[in-house]
Amino acid sequence: MTTRTLPPKCGAYNVAEEWMEGEPFSWERVHPVFSWYQTGNVNMAYECVDRHVEEGKGDKIALHYFTESEEETYTYKELQQEVNRWSNVLKAHGVKKGDFVFVFLPKHPYCHIAMLAAIKIGAVVGPLFEAFMEEAVKDRINDCDGEYLITDLKFLDRVNRDEIPSLKTVFTTDFELAGSDVSITKEAAEADDTADTVWVDLDDGLNIHYTSGSTGKPKGIIHAHRNMIQQYQTGRWVLDLKEGDVYWCTAHPGWVTGTVYGVFAPLLNGVTTVIHGSRFSAKSWYQVLEQAKVSVWYSAPTAYRMLMAEGDKTLNKYNLYSLRHILSVGEPLNPEVIHWGERTLNLRIHDTWWMTETGAQLVANLPTRTIKPGSMGRPIPGIEVAVLDDNGEILPAGKTGHLAIKSSWPSLMKEVWKNQEKFNSYFPYGPEWYIAGDLAYLDEDGYVFFQGRSDDMINSSGERIGPFEVESKLIEHEAVKEVGVIGKPDPVRGEIVKAFIALNPGYDGSEELLEEIRLFVRKGLAAHVAPKEIEVVEELPKTQISGKVLRRELKKRDTEKAG
Ligand code: PRX
Repeated sequence: MTTRTLPPKCGAYNVAEEWMEGEPFSWERVHPVFSWYQTGNVNMAYECVDRHVEEGKGDKIALHYFTESEEETYTYKELQQEVNRWSNVLKAHGVKKGDFVFVFLPKHPYCHIAMLAAIKIGAVVGPLFEAFMEEAVKDRINDCDGEYLITDLKFLDRVNRDEIPSLKTVFTTDFELAGSDVSITKEAAEADDTADTVWVDLDDGLNIHYTSGSTGKPKGIIHAHRNMIQQYQTGRWVLDLKEGDVYWCTAHPGWVTGTVYGVFAPLLNGVTTVIHGSRFSAKSWYQVLEQAKVSVWYSAPTAYRMLMAEGDKTLNKYNLYSLRHILSVGEPLNPEVIHWGERTLNLRIHDTWWMTETGAQLVANLPTRTIKPGSMGRPIPGIEVAVLDDNGEILPAGKTGHLAIKSSWPSLMKEVWKNQEKFNSYFPYGPEWYIAGDLAYLDEDGYVFFQGRSDDMINSSGERIGPFEVESKLIEHEAVKEVGVIGKPDPVRGEIVKAFIALNPGYDGSEELLEEIRLFVRKGLAAHVAPKEIEVVEELPKTQISGKVLRRELKKRDTEKAG
């Protein structure tokens, strides 16, 4: 049995060595870590890659890639050379500082290389989730008139170029190509492996992630190079990354976790990052943990619940002794999962809380702190949180209200692309408090307990889904007259997407039709947003004045029905 009898051999935690509980902390303390503190030259790609090579760590493994049949590594030196080659190709095709470069690739070292190459020449990178289908891709690139896309032939048929007029150049990672696209791998093979870094300002754009709210199309959240301050430091204190660590973040860079804690934070800390290219299965995940000797692992509650459901028998077939620190993000981490981790791996799973907009972790269970199962932890050093009532007044411990963060912190979003109004909406009570949209309470010790969202946003398997985007797709189907989409509680995925639809005359609610509608969303937008459940209703509840569908009412009825 894989029961640990000894505590993990990790020595002291970084945070314990550098900060005393209760001591004030200023982010400026982190600045001297970066080369720009001395040189004034800023670039995230430089801090992630080049500086490690310059500091003599070129032979260390930066990326360790696995699938069920392949294994590949890149040292920091090899990563640097590859990033340089790719950035030379991008530059040769006109990419320059401030341009948007979308990256639509599977989990693979190429995804890391593409992102870093774009960043190295000052472009703003837009990683797209690998499961996005045509409309999701189109909406995002069109919103910011993206001119460049790096993708591969397998994904290319989900890029409808006729409907993305701004797109100038499509780079693909396939060696052989027909047509006018650029094979970035082929040109890179012939390109110089040295390249100049384009120095930028700390507040220049670094990456854009589209994210859902409860209304309207996804919004482009733009982050700046300044984020590295908090991303490095949380990598150090929350993930507890150290020189010898092998670290695996299971998220795809199309989600903010996959970018910040899958690409930036581990590279900033100079550790080895594992990339797993195959689909989820308990067997393949345990195999990666064993084979790569993963020491620090960051995933999401749904994945842990799926592993838990697979049973101890599978887990016990693997040697997971290298693991010393496990973390979770994206959705509520139920105490049952923490207990599973303790029982099977003798490790506590540390919850962390943040959002696309916040750019890095803000609330977490630091490795040195007591965990209260059911709580997301406490604000990390340098961060202050409060719970506010509807008037913006601070509530006492134990009272549920709006989770608020004292503004500002280094990795707070720089802007919402072309949408100042949306940006302002995060500060409804004035500039002092950023309002997350989450409901929570604090206990007497300052631990934060998540209580749900204050809007209609859906969280399925830790993936943030805007009901509006799904409704907009559903309504395009000829059979659908009206629609309302909600998140329905689910024991494994947290929530599933459920759609209520009223049909146009002449359509019945047959299983075939519902399956066709489901497929319509799967193929048009993405599999994870397609409603798992569809209920046909005569009419949808609406507000009297504006006639807007009342999702809240649908949710209430659904809960009552479930009993
Ligand atoms: O509702 C919270 C939930 O995920 C939202 C942010 O989603 P996204 O921008 O996609 O970022 C996800 C990962 C950074 C939050 O407003 N959420 C995030 N972490 C937790 C969480 N809910 C409960 N517990 C968490 N630890």
